[in-house]
Amino acid sequence: MTDQVSPPIRLLDYRPPAWTITDVALVFELERESSVVEATLALRCDEPGSALRLDGEELELLAIALDGRPLAAEEFAHDATGLVVHATRGAAACTLHTVVRVKPAANTRLEGLYTSGSLLLTQCEAEGFRRITFFVDRPDVQARWRTTLRAERARYPVLLAGGDRVAERDLGDGRHEAEWHNPHPTPCYLFALAAGPMARVSKAITGADGRAIELNVWVEGDDAEPCRYALGAVERALRWDESRFGRCYDLGVFNVVAAQDFTMGAMENKGLNIFNARYILADERTATDADFMGIESVVGHEYFHNWSGNRVTLRDWFQLSLKEGLTVFRDQEFTADLHSRDLKRIDDVRLLRARQFAEDAGALAHPVRPAEYREINNFYTLTIYEKGAEIVRMLHSRLGEAAFRAGMDRYFADNDGRSATLEDFYAAHSAATGIDCTDMLAWYAQAGTPVLDVERSFDSSTGEYTLVLRQRPPANVPAAAPLPVPMRLALYDAAGHALPAPSHDAEAMPDGLLLRHATHTLRWRGLSSEPLPVLNRGFAAPIRLRMPMPPEERARIVQVESDGFARWDALQHLALDVLLARADEPVDGLGDVDAAENALSAAIGALLADTHAHPAFVAECLALPDFDTLADAVAVADPGALVAARERLSLALATVHRAALQARFDALRVEAAGGLDDAAMAARSLRHAALAWLSKVDGGAAARGLWDDARSMTERMAALRALLHVQAAGAAAAREAFAAEFADHALVTDKWLAVVATRPAAEALDDVEALVAGPCWNPTNPNRVRAIVGSLARLNPAAFHRGDGAGYRFVAAQVQSMDAINPQVAARLLGAFEGLPRWTAPARAAALAALAPLRSATLSRDVAELLGRLPG
Ligand code: BES
Ligand code: ZN
Repeated sequence: MTDQVSPPIRLLDYRPPAWTITDVALVFELERESSVVEATLALRCDEPGSALRLDGEELELLAIALDGRPLAAEEFAHDATGLVVHATRGAAACTLHTVVRVKPAANTRLEGLYTSGSLLLTQCEAEGFRRITFFVDRPDVQARWRTTLRAERARYPVLLAGGDRVAERDLGDGRHEAEWHNPHPTPCYLFALAAGPMARVSKAITGADGRAIELNVWVEGDDAEPCRYALGAVERALRWDESRFGRCYDLGVFNVVAAQDFTMGAMENKGLNIFNARYILADERTATDADFMGIESVVGHEYFHNWSGNRVTLRDWFQLSLKEGLTVFRDQEFTADLHSRDLKRIDDVRLLRARQFAEDAGALAHPVRPAEYREINNFYTLTIYEKGAEIVRMLHSRLGEAAFRAGMDRYFADNDGRSATLEDFYAAHSAATGIDCTDMLAWYAQAGTPVLDVERSFDSSTGEYTLVLRQRPPANVPAAAPLPVPMRLALYDAAGHALPAPSHDAEAMPDGLLLRHATHTLRWRGLSSEPLPVLNRGFAAPIRLRMPMPPEERARIVQVESDGFARWDALQHLALDVLLARADEPVDGLGDVDAAENALSAAIGALLADTHAHPAFVAECLALPDFDTLADAVAVADPGALVAARERLSLALATVHRAALQARFDALRVEAAGGLDDAAMAARSLRHAALAWLSKVDGGAAARGLWDDARSMTERMAALRALLHVQAAGAAAAREAFAAEFADHALVTDKWLAVVATRPAAEALDDVEALVAGPCWNPTNPNRVRAIVGSLARLNPAAFHRGDGAGYRFVAAQVQSMDAINPQVAARLLGAFEGLPRWTAPARAAALAALAPLRSATLSRDVAELLGRLPG
């Protein structure tokens, strides 16, 4: 909590390490209060004569020896950030031996070695390993690892570390030890151990290359049944990476551990993934459909890192998206291949537009490869992850699946066992395909979302139709050069048939065009009537498309288009236009807002009546653009007006379609009873989307029915949410019954807390303040903090932006108190203020006043950096 003024780290300053570590032997004497770590490092000097500097934080140095000789005090220097060993001067190689003491139980940052319940665990990415022992803590230092864990057998019966287990021994005094070996060159951020009383589910399989592999999923305690679904997901991920990417697993065991206390979602440590329990534990009594889907996707993501991140790792943290963006792309494809491609795309674009676009337009905007940072933990953002994945998706579109796969094979082959850069990635794709795609690198260098203005014209005398596409730089980066933009588009004639491809001045891609210049013109000739254009099908590029369209045209896209994403997108645009017009924003091409609302309503009515439409697709269409999407679409956001417009429109639509909503809700009851197959999940998603609207107009009757009838956690949560959010009769009783039933189940408790914290009303803040003062509050558990404070700050605009500024003050105060416990969690809460520059003057003034006390406080580097980027 010291350094608020540390200078930034710059990409341009990158230098290879002077000293590298080739082999590591670690011996841990594990105990909760105080653990001892003995490290033997084989070091090689690549810059003769340079000093040996090791990172180390909050370590008590007990012993130090160089090449077997204990060092005298004047032969090294030790400060709060590390150790410099003077005695190595001139040596080309040496062996350093250190013994340090660390304090796991006092470690509330959950970085380094820490405790969660009765377990001892580690979290090292990005720079946590230096809190375990002295090391050259940077990803371009890759070593082979031997890890010996020693502990009391009764307290720590299971001892896991990365790699394969090579030995276990009883030590005779009630203690035992296990030795693990990871032969693959691995940076220290991928180191892990887990020790304690754990149970597992397990499956032995044979990899596509014939390797025998044991898959284990572990959890604290003696009941591992809730890990069963995650175990299945591990196997599906492994098989999918074999078949889609030709990537095999490379150790004899793949261990996954679920932890109740974990700052992030999950971590891809080599051979020993450690997960937030919410992405592992699930059964139908305690987990919702969304939980199951989340588990499969996060398990896939961390598994896929074994190649994209671990076998090929990062040269430096500026390249973070090289592993995260690529791995998100891979996990998105995994879900798309296993479930519905259209629905997955809709979900991903919804997130990208609502949150990443806002991030990219807000005070915390940064390029996918930033030029500098102070605290790398602040850069695990939607931009690095989701925009990074979109750039890889654009590459995939441009090359097509077969060439992309050849490029990936080349990337893995050329960089295996090494640390790579984004340049290496695009060089491999270019070399393997003969297509120079290094121009994609420009997407990584600038912040902001490009705009594509579309001008259409039809000459009815000649039958010529023209689209002029003009790329404009992002509003916040006005000088940016045009970026390569893949475009998929279709034109439909009056009968709803797609027209052939146009003549154009762009470059061809497998099923579209690559726009490289600021302006492109596409022409169709000989048309008998003006066609209906659909641009950016499948959301091929992460851009803002500006093509004013009257409501009838948007509604017609829903009818004629075959791309599910484009149909959903047309409806979202229509709803967005109506919502903005209702909030007194100017909207091009909309015309009369009542007529537009009628067109939207008619389209929704048609979808509700269409029993052949995919129910999950209809559910996606019922979900109106959320607050973040609305705020992102306007120049100056009046939070109250946007919340009110959205509330008003859903009430109006619910009123008009009440009968249809009720009919679908009732009719889907039987199908919704099924298990976790896609059809049953789809039935539930439509049923519950219908319920959310219905409960606004039926006094909660349908929700009470579902509450009494609920057959799974998905149904119980849908009913509870509907009851609490409209404060229907019976809501308080349902809340108490639910809380009591699951008081001992932290993950389920988090769910009802989040429901309470997201009630769309200013008064939800009062409920949240009561929760923070009550017995559920646990500031050392990141899930609990997110469920209560994070839900309010990020998912409850009515309360966060409430007119008296109390929402801002509450969140700012939480940032300050959390910062002393877990700076990463605190910094993420502060992110709720990123949109501040574009809020109306009163909202901005209230938020700045709320943040003022933080500015004079002693802050972590994490919070200090973000605060410094928010306007003061
Ligand atoms: N490598 C990250 C975990 C991580 C994030 C470690 C930040 C240290 C700091 C992991 O692969 C990851 O990306 N996890 C995501 C979930 C994923 C499915 C997007 C997470 O934890 O949110
Ligand atoms: Zn990741």
